[in-house]
Amino acid sequence: MQSVGFIGWRGMVGSVLIDRMRQENDFQGFDAVFFTTSQAGQPGPDVGGGSAPLRDANDVRALSDMDILVSCQGGEYTKAVHPKLRATGWEGIWIDAASALRMKDDAVIVLDPVNRKVIEQAMENGVRDFVGGNCTVSLMLMGMQGLFDAGLVEWVSSMTYQSASGAGAKNMKELVAQMAGLVDVGRELALDPSSQVLELDRRISAKLNDGSLPADAFGAPLAASLIPWIDSAMEDGRTREEWKGMVETNKILGTTIPIPVDGQCVRVGAMRCHSQALTLKLTRDVPLAEVEGLIAGANDWVKLVPNDKASTLAQLTPAAVSGTLTIPVGRLRKMALGGEYLTAFTVGDQLLWGAAEPVRRMLLIVLGRI
Ligand code: HSE
Repeated sequence: MQSVGFIGWRGMVGSVLIDRMRQENDFQGFDAVFFTTSQAGQPGPDVGGGSAPLRDANDVRALSDMDILVSCQGGEYTKAVHPKLRATGWEGIWIDAASALRMKDDAVIVLDPVNRKVIEQAMENGVRDFVGGNCTVSLMLMGMQGLFDAGLVEWVSSMTYQSASGAGAKNMKELVAQMAGLVDVGRELALDPSSQVLELDRRISAKLNDGSLPADAFGAPLAASLIPWIDSAMEDGRTREEWKGMVETNKILGTTIPIPVDGQCVRVGAMRCHSQALTLKLTRDVPLAEVEGLIAGANDWVKLVPNDKASTLAQLTPAAVSGTLTIPVGRLRKMALGGEYLTAFTVGDQLLWGAAEPVRRMLLIVLGRI
């Protein structure tokens, strides 16, 4: 029986992964072994076969006993441990949610509904490192797969509305703490129908700018505001998050001629769903009904949302999508720019298809289950 070691299973993405695996009855037919960076020897979780002591995630020899390792521990851990582990001659499969190995030539970015062929070819060629993609890239590709598969995409511009979860667990808490700080100064006036709205606005604006809201994680108030900067600066004016859009899209698709992808990445006050407003230049003027058919039929999770207000409000918001695997695509129409220009809006759960689900499914692929 194959052994699968889990590292970083208690963090946010790791917890979502373990929950999904429990929900889908995945913990069978292999030995699940749980590692820890800080609590070796303490009892591990019971995923069906009883609890066993946690093993040390920094013990390369213990790791090398595993056939497969799944890490949600983060990039620093991967950078520290993965090279040492491979240096021992370990030839197991490493599946990772962090970005550290993504752009390495001998690693594949996994998003199997979109690039199963790329994954299978890599496995045949002896590739052993498989990494989940950047969340906005994975979610955009899940939504637009039908158009990419049909070779209809000349370029994409993606303007993102990214949730707090993409920045981390403490950022999610900070967002809500900021909201609480605003409620403290605004509740009374907000609930009083006869209050002066400009007085409410003055109090909220003052609170946003007086430095008293917690902002260690984001660096600025996000509640009742937004932050048009995600990750570090690149030399050409893009942020790293914006840079990832093009390099990861093309790596996932395995393109030989890169498809340009660019846009601005913006943090907004959503909890765990990333949204994106897309502009696509198509390679030719395709009727909208054909575009809709291609998008809707591409995978089991994408869902076309009619371009009307009621459907949009009910189905195309972070609040509606949160906690689900559905990838709604709506606001779809040809633009006034010309027949080849398409606009669409899409939403996806950053922790599910944006992080844990591609990793979970890659494990199932390696185990021969899907
Ligand atoms: N980098 C993404 C974000 C999340 O900051 O939202 C991870 O893919």
